[in-house]
Amino acid sequence: METHKQLTIGLFGFGVVGEGLYKVLQQTPSLKASIKKVCIKDPGKKREAPAELFTTDRDELLNDPSINVIVEVINESGPAFEIVSTALKNGKSVVSASKKMIAEHMPELLQLQKETGESFLYESAACASIPVIRNLEEYYDNDLLHSIKAIVNGSTNFILTKMFEDKLGFQEALLLAQQLGFAESDPSLDVEGYDAANKWTFLLTHAYGIIVATKDLVFNGIQHVQAGDAAVAREKHYDIKLVAQAKKLETGKVAAFVLPQFVKQEDHLSFVKNEYNGVVIESGFADKQFFYGKGAGSFPTASAVLSDLSALRYQYKYEYKKLYHHKPHELTNDFFVRVYVSFDDWKYIPREKFEWIEEWHAETDRKYLIGVIHFRELELNSWWKENNTSLVLTPEPIIEDVEIRKLKKKSLELAGIV
Ligand code: HSE
Repeated sequence: METHKQLTIGLFGFGVVGEGLYKVLQQTPSLKASIKKVCIKDPGKKREAPAELFTTDRDELLNDPSINVIVEVINESGPAFEIVSTALKNGKSVVSASKKMIAEHMPELLQLQKETGESFLYESAACASIPVIRNLEEYYDNDLLHSIKAIVNGSTNFILTKMFEDKLGFQEALLLAQQLGFAESDPSLDVEGYDAANKWTFLLTHAYGIIVATKDLVFNGIQHVQAGDAAVAREKHYDIKLVAQAKKLETGKVAAFVLPQFVKQEDHLSFVKNEYNGVVIESGFADKQFFYGKGAGSFPTASAVLSDLSALRYQYKYEYKKLYHHKPHELTNDFFVRVYVSFDDWKYIPREKFEWIEEWHAETDRKYLIGVIHFRELELNSWWKENNTSLVLTPEPIIEDVEIRKLKKKSLELAGIV
């Protein structure tokens, strides 16, 4: 595509994001981008755009040589992948917001980009309005990126804020998130952590060159978080957030997960409320950097699609630098985490699996403990998300092997054993 070429767009999907993009493009004539056709599933729905713009025939877009960009913002992952792969093979650039599809098909998508040489951009698929993918890709050299922790799902953050600050019930808060267009059409994808974990897989690719399937990440959502957990958090001056985290360990390998976490009130992520997302990056020399912005909703998501369209005018492509130009990092489960676990009965908790337990409270119906456990235990077993048990990581939860040995030695010394 030559520089500053007119972009003629074929748009798949006219839901929250598609319609948002349609409106946003009308207000940005300088971009020289126009939508030629929109492919939709249900022609019966009333839409605020001229009827002749719409079709239900995907080939009208995919086989039209005058369309040089396909924007794909549909819900279903299988059809989205079909559309993206056909468009790339037909010599079109593609912009997508389908995080689930990208997470499920990353190896094939990498191959397709290599084979066709076409651009495939998806800034809107993670953290909506925050330009996180391009930053991870372009700005941070492999060696500099020590850790990244983020709130990447707007709906769960919205629900937690409404429940714990505005005292709404879970269902009421979820309904509001749905009405405002933040939630997935199947909201269990948000609530049970799938959406955040999907986004985390490809953010890990751009941050560290890691390719991982969602099912192979340790993750959970906020479905088990209870009012009692929020009360404990408040006592300790913490908030509860669904945090996606990755950290380069001393071994050079990367620890990564998506789990509810206690966040100190002075932590940047504590500042992130409602449908906002936030990303805290720790790098070699810059120390901490904080990115903040709306992570869901029509215009914030459309704004990232718009930015990808704009980048296409300059033939921008992801180079996947950490994957192809550096030695990619490996994920590891060989580390420890400090966890808070609340539960109905001790019989559900394998106490012997903990390295040590620092606090336990058994005086009420709902009991809880804080202790240190090997991460592999969470990866291999599911007691921590069954039987009404709720696990929340403590602030700075990762403890490396070397530290554990030191801590253990110290406690033995204190006990007068060595
Ligand atoms: N359901 C998603 C969220 C939409 O709440 O973050 C944006 O990806």
